[in-house]
Amino acid sequence: LDNGLAIQPPMGWMAWERFRCNINCTEDPDNCISEKLIVQMCDKMVAGGFRDAGYTYITLDDCWAEKRRDPLTGKLVPDRTRFPRGMKALADYVHRQGMKLGIYSDMGTKTCKEYPGSEFYIQTDAQTFADWGVDMLKLDCCYGGSGMEIGYETMGFFLNKTGRPVLYSCSYPVCLGGHVIYERVAKTCNMWRNAIDLTDSWDRVYKVIRIYGDNIGNFSAAAGPGHWNDADQLMVGDFGLSNGQQTAQIVMWAMWSAPLFMSVDLRNIGVFAEELLLNKDIIAINQDWAGSPSYRVWQDKRLPVTTDIIEGWIKRLSDGTTAIAILNGSNYGEPATVVKTPRQLGLLGNTSYIFRNVLTSEKSGPFNDTVPMKVRIPATSVYFVVATELE
Ligand code: GLA
Repeated sequence: LDNGLAIQPPMGWMAWERFRCNINCTEDPDNCISEKLIVQMCDKMVAGGFRDAGYTYITLDDCWAEKRRDPLTGKLVPDRTRFPRGMKALADYVHRQGMKLGIYSDMGTKTCKEYPGSEFYIQTDAQTFADWGVDMLKLDCCYGGSGMEIGYETMGFFLNKTGRPVLYSCSYPVCLGGHVIYERVAKTCNMWRNAIDLTDSWDRVYKVIRIYGDNIGNFSAAAGPGHWNDADQLMVGDFGLSNGQQTAQIVMWAMWSAPLFMSVDLRNIGVFAEELLLNKDIIAINQDWAGSPSYRVWQDKRLPVTTDIIEGWIKRLSDGTTAIAILNGSNYGEPATVVKTPRQLGLLGNTSYIFRNVLTSEKSGPFNDTVPMKVRIPATSVYFVVATELE
């Protein structure tokens, strides 16, 4: 979407994966979806250096609203007990911290958790969000009808008409089973979901990696400055992924130039996850200004277990180097030994390359058609290098 936003993949924090639809502030006051939660996370994003690393959006997901619109104006109303000062006050707070506020709605009669949807209130909701000072809208697609695509375009039109720059995140490609023309989606939205919901498990993360590898409809090619494929939130720092799996997730998201929205309790995040989320080299590859697509260029099966697959990805970077990720996604105990020449990794042949390990900064090489690189990659983890061609 050509609205001047998301020139690089958006980064931020999103409530959903970690805090879901917890509205029970009586029994769980510290973790329910509320102004307090957002304020605390916002403060942590600033104090912990996340804002300065680029994570500037803080985004509410489902379950922030009253179950009924205002009967007189038809406007959405934030839950009166959980957002006692309203959304404008929250947006003002977030802005004072140098951050941006995201909100959630749905292009259907109801949201996924059955709060009021925007379908018959598109203009009203666009104006309400702008009046509140909202900077991002995640528009979901549960309970959406057949005219969904037009509905999203209409919301885009009315958001634009408000004059407020609002990052527009769309979900309809996933609801339409990927049966969309991605060039058209890219004109309508700054980012769009196109794969299943993530949960806090490697199984799901790996499924999304397979969907991106299969790249049906070549959605990878639709990404670029202003418009990005959204592979869903990062599970980094949560409970379900090992250190290697968390690394693999953020590395693959960096390869794809996918938006980096963490969904973690920043009040008690561990050191490993914190350093991973703040890793400047990984972020730089995610944010590379060219936004070149990344492709899975090879897959090797270790027989006899045909689900035991090692795969290689490449992404050209704007400085002429190439990022290479080799993923051992299977949980087949023994580390995989990978021996490949640069040409087999998808680089041009006839020349030599030095590899820099992005995670350890170690250099190796030069590698060429006669000297392959060799690496052992433990189960469910990734080897991540930047290859520089020797003159
Ligand atoms: C859908 C979306 C999720 C989240 C929930 C909220 O499942 O894909 O990201 O927004 O709805 O109910």
